[in-house]
Amino acid sequence: MKILLTGAAGFIGFHTAKALLARGDEVIGYDNFTPYYDPELKEARVAQLEGVKGWTLIRGDILDRDTLRKAMQGVDRVCHLAALAGVRYSFEHPDEYIDINIRGFFNVIEEVHQQKIPGLIYASSSSVYGNTQKFPSSEEDRTDSQQSLYGMNKKDNELMAFTYHATHGVRSTGLRFFTVYGPWGRPDMALFLFTEALLKDQPLNIFGEGKMQRDFTFVDDIVQGIIASIDKNYDYEIFNLGCGKQEELMEYVRMVEVSCGKEAKKNFMPMQPGDVRASSADISKAQRMLGFDPKTTIAKGVPQFIEWYRSYYKI
Ligand SMILES: NC(=O)c1ccc[n+]([C@@H]2O[C@H](COP(=O)([O-])OP(=O)(O)OC[C@H]3O[C@@H](n4cnc5c(N)ncnc54)[C@H](O)[C@@H]3O)[C@@H](O)[C@H]2O)c1
Repeated sequence: MKILLTGAAGFIGFHTAKALLARGDEVIGYDNFTPYYDPELKEARVAQLEGVKGWTLIRGDILDRDTLRKAMQGVDRVCHLAALAGVRYSFEHPDEYIDINIRGFFNVIEEVHQQKIPGLIYASSSSVYGNTQKFPSSEEDRTDSQQSLYGMNKKDNELMAFTYHATHGVRSTGLRFFTVYGPWGRPDMALFLFTEALLKDQPLNIFGEGKMQRDFTFVDDIVQGIIASIDKNYDYEIFNLGCGKQEELMEYVRMVEVSCGKEAKKNFMPMQPGDVRASSADISKAQRMLGFDPKTTIAKGVPQFIEWYRSYYKI
């Protein structure tokens, strides 16, 4: 297949591109290397793909409709992962979130419709569940209590996809990712920040007084779910992609300590705006309809991140 992959220089996009190329698909990566975090990390990711058969990179913005239109010509699928992905950053930069996460999504789906692309797979988020008290969360649950503009953007994307399916028959699959981690991960996420602080002998800032739970999902498992969605190409579906196991945040911290061989000084702090106390995915629908089969526990996944971190930053 020929796949347009937006956000290809990003954390999940890079791993998705690698896996698609490995099985022989043609991938057009599309990314504007936005400086929300260190663009050098994005450059280093795409440098790994340079020269791989089937790989092309377009340095383009999803807000630039002409470039996007040309990039999409003749593809079999669009996999749309480009977004501003940080929950907290959406409090400080609301305009950018509306532009990129809503207008940008509209540009993508409108082009998918106009060019009659056979299928759109896009990133939603566990943030659509907001401060739900029902765990594990299932796709059937109500999702109208988002705690951040970011979460609301993702819910908006799902609604727009529903409307494009209802009005124009656009095929789409929305994937609600639950706290993704792994090698080449994002510098604004907890695992990166914990590791960075611990290896520099600085205290770890632990929000929610350490009393938070998350469904942590290893990136290779997420990629398996993305690729299955590309292949199945359902009419209109939403899936949770999580590990299906709720972990204590302090257990995640302990894994970092074990992998680094050091005990951390801990700075317990209150919850931050936009944070939710817990997340937990009911993945039975993805298991049934996508053959989704997450295999990586945090005990296996966290050391893989630390190993990458040490080698990338030469520590
Ligand atoms: N990582 C997670 O835990 C997680 C959880 C839930 C949902 N998601 C969603 O998954 C997707 C990928 O997330 P990620 O963690 O890989 O984030 P990321 O920030 O590493 O990747 C996003 C990529 O999109 C690109 N981008 C941003 N604005 C763009 C624009 N205007 N035009 C073109 N490219 C643009 C960025 O340069 C970046 O490389 C996002 O949609 C995110 O919201 C991620």
